[in-house]
Amino acid sequence: MSAIQRRPLFGGNWKMHKVTADAEAYCAKLPGLVGESSAEIVIFPPAPLLRSVSAALRGSSIAVGGQDIHPDSAGAFTGDVSAVQLVDAGCRWALCGHSERRRDHGETDELIAGKGLAAVASGLSALICIGESAAEREAGRAFEVLERQLAGALAGRPEPFALAYEPVWAIGTGKTATPETAQETHEFIRDALSDLIGQAAAASKRIVYGGSVNPENAASLIAKRDIDGFLVGGASLDPDQFSAIIRSCGS
Ligand code: 13P
Repeated sequence: MSAIQRRPLFGGNWKMHKVTADAEAYCAKLPGLVGESSAEIVIFPPAPLLRSVSAALRGSSIAVGGQDIHPDSAGAFTGDVSAVQLVDAGCRWALCGHSERRRDHGETDELIAGKGLAAVASGLSALICIGESAAEREAGRAFEVLERQLAGALAGRPEPFALAYEPVWAIGTGKTATPETAQETHEFIRDALSDLIGQAAAASKRIVYGGSVNPENAASLIAKRDIDGFLVGGASLDPDQFSAIIRSCGS
């Protein structure tokens, strides 16, 4: 599997941060900081900023994605956003099943499968998030949980997609997974993926890591064979930090 070249993927998940003025200042700076990166770079702003961020990044190589989508393309779903609307706002990607959505909105594996399918049906790439809690890892159940989340989210076989492994205990805590733990887990995920979609397809898929990634720890993580980039939260809010992460990975 290691002979396959996978283009590094760096996502900046802004979560519920920033207003238009901050976003515009950010977008005026980021393309110059990343220069001619060979990586795929995607910013995930909150829904009200999608259109202005897409407009500000037009002409750059940096793509935009939504942080969530509803499985239906339209309807009476107050507060929700459809994949069709994300495309209309200039998006090329959608996050599906972030742990904060699972935790705060009760998202199930089945619902996340529907989101992934809705994304790809509209021409978006799905970045599907999986990750175990601290209690699950301490109980020795991390792999079992990841396998269930993976099979559930991919039940409808969405394509194209990438995976984000984000251990809940590492998100926003400053407790990054060690490169060894992250690699061991990514390798497990790739093997589980192989059982689902076949070895060649699994070998070509990006599996990015998320959880307290910063410019100091990024290079040692991406040096590992099965780590193909990052989904960055806090450190993606600052264009200097986010671009430093990308540059420290040689992209
Ligand atoms: P932090 O980088 O702030 O830990 O967040 C990770 C994350 O949840 C990205 O989706």
